[in-house]
Amino acid sequence: VKTLVVLAHPNMKESKISRHWKMRLQKETSITIHDLYDVYPDHVINVENEQELLLAHDRIAFQFPFHWYSSPSLLKKWVDEVYIYGFAYGTGNKLKGKEFCLVLSAGRPEKSYQPDGSSKYTIDQFLLPMKATVLLTEMTYLTPFVLYGAASIQEETLAESAEQLAAYLTANQDHTSLQEEN
Ligand SMILES: Cc1cc2nc3c(=O)[nH]c(=O)nc-3n(C[C@H](O)[C@H](O)[C@H](O)COP(=O)(O)O)c2cc1C
Repeated sequence: VKTLVVLAHPNMKESKISRHWKMRLQKETSITIHDLYDVYPDHVINVENEQELLLAHDRIAFQFPFHWYSSPSLLKKWVDEVYIYGFAYGTGNKLKGKEFCLVLSAGRPEKSYQPDGSSKYTIDQFLLPMKATVLLTEMTYLTPFVLYGAASIQEETLAESAEQLAAYLTANQDHTSLQEEN
């Protein structure tokens, strides 16, 4: 399985989690890391290039830090421009059948992502527009990989999470266990 990681972190120099994950995933030969803020510092996206990249992979992951309960803006711009009619939906949906996985880190702890927590809603609720996009494009939505409590993470936990992420994204078995009930 060839996996494309579309990575979006607007300030990679200051990043702890995304930077560590990126370095770990770069060791995997089956994974292509596509760092959007690095490739497109001027935010001008080469749509054709992005579509070719998507077509060349079986599994797509979006990796990003949770910013205001969503993704950094360049990733949203990327989806808006790359997922066009005739490519991602409508006549000839070319993403159909691929697997898709959201990979994110959130500053707040898991207990905050509950109705009685400070974030008021669960991560799954916040991720609904992205999930609906995956379903509309007829990809298989895998269970998101979420690291909570990024603000106060220990080095050891971070290293463990990187190993888990690498294992998750390179898993070759039947994905029914990872797949969400849509
Ligand atoms: C602009 C901005 C908005 C953020 N919004 C949220 C948020 O809505 N929820 C949350 O849990 N953390 C939020 N955070 C914290 C980041 O998710 C956290 O710092 C990040 O996941 C850590 O990853 P990194 O080390 O790769 O930057 C925000 C951080 C920034 C800079």
